[in-house]
Amino acid sequence: MDKFKITGPSQLRGTVRASGAKNAALPALTVSLLTDQALTLDRVPAVRDLKTLRDLLQGLGIESQDGSDGSLRLQAGDDLSSFEAPYDLVKKMRASILVLGPLTARRGRAKVSLPGGCAIGVRPIDQHIAGLRALGAEVELEHGYVLTHAKRLQGTRFSFSLPTVTGTENLMMAACLAKGETVLENCAREPEIENLADLLVTLGAQIEGAGTPTIHIQGVDELGTGRHEIIADRIEGGTYLIGAAMTRGDVRLEGARPEHLMDLIEALEDVGASVTTGDDWIRVEGVGDLVARDISTAPHPGFPTDLQAQFMALLTQTRGVSRVHETIFENRFQHVAELLRMGADIHVEEHTATVSGPTQLSGADVMATDLRASASLVLAGLVAHGVTEVSRIYHLDRGYDAMERKLESLGARVERIPGPPTP
Ligand code: EPZ
Repeated sequence: MDKFKITGPSQLRGTVRASGAKNAALPALTVSLLTDQALTLDRVPAVRDLKTLRDLLQGLGIESQDGSDGSLRLQAGDDLSSFEAPYDLVKKMRASILVLGPLTARRGRAKVSLPGGCAIGVRPIDQHIAGLRALGAEVELEHGYVLTHAKRLQGTRFSFSLPTVTGTENLMMAACLAKGETVLENCAREPEIENLADLLVTLGAQIEGAGTPTIHIQGVDELGTGRHEIIADRIEGGTYLIGAAMTRGDVRLEGARPEHLMDLIEALEDVGASVTTGDDWIRVEGVGDLVARDISTAPHPGFPTDLQAQFMALLTQTRGVSRVHETIFENRFQHVAELLRMGADIHVEEHTATVSGPTQLSGADVMATDLRASASLVLAGLVAHGVTEVSRIYHLDRGYDAMERKLESLGARVERIPGPPTP
């Protein structure tokens, strides 16, 4: 298990390009299950979760090849008989649940291991199941698996009890091949959902309203071939912008769309950073004094839960008291214990963390527990005095493409220390 050795304090200065979004690429790869023609994707990030999904799709008869131009080409084989996503792969990455909708719609059946919980929460899929039942699928839960069966899905009107990103994606994909019209209400509105709809429409689907609470899908008999670019990873990019503010640096993020990060931009300006933007870039300068600011996570377009841990690391460097309210997941404060060991002053009560600052952080050996908590510890290591070693950074490798190289290109002193292979 590799670790990062970070020597602080340092300032992040320079230009960095956002990779393609992990959370847009994951559903995009599962679209290969909906068509028997070739699918070509551009800007797929080189992160572990996508390698895991490619392995899972291979078991379902999908061949994937890296193109010489950096694209990823996926093609379903002739054998459509497989329909199982086994526990040993699903437990590695709960986003594997995204094969449930496409398999049920295209192959008429699916056997997908229940994802089980993860470090940040229980992660139920009741809405995915209720939606597939509304589309006419028979759905059973047996021995830790979701089993679905459907001759042909029937268009329906379904309202989510709460906005769910992968729930919206699963049902939008399934409804593309249903008979008749489907209306999905109370949908999640994340940009990754809009990007998925753009891909499906490129292949011949008829979808309107993706990115809004109500999505209309007119079912078609089959989908065709096409090429599609994954949008920039707003969470990866937001991580570097937060790093710029907290290290009093100056970073220009290229290839990212400001409209996908409006709540973060507002929060950075409120703490005192200077933010300028263009069509496809965002620049953050951490000038002068930083002041405390409350944040409360919410479904898009609210403040992203996936940036909560990183922003909390910044708040340790702001003057005053900030309250961080996590409303999406029940256990997303695991970075707090490690930040405390570095000298932060944070008190957690239920789903609210109270951060007092500024505190001088000191380098320490810390352990990553989940993807975004790991990023928070790396950012803290950039401002801490001395050496911080972040262990178990396989969590980081799940969602950040070449993080140490990008940070080094911005002036940070970060070294990856190879460890024994990850289990
Ligand atoms: C997606 O997870 C993202 N993952 C997560 O990013 C992100 O944190 C999350 O959306 C929220 O923005 C991918 O897109 C692959 P949800 P997802 O269903 O779809 C509850 C990262 O760091 N819920 O929108 O699993 C659930 O418990 C990852 O990149 C139900 O109750 O999240 C949670 O409280 C972490 N029943 C809330 O909804 C359901 O059927 C939002 O979850 C589904 C969800």
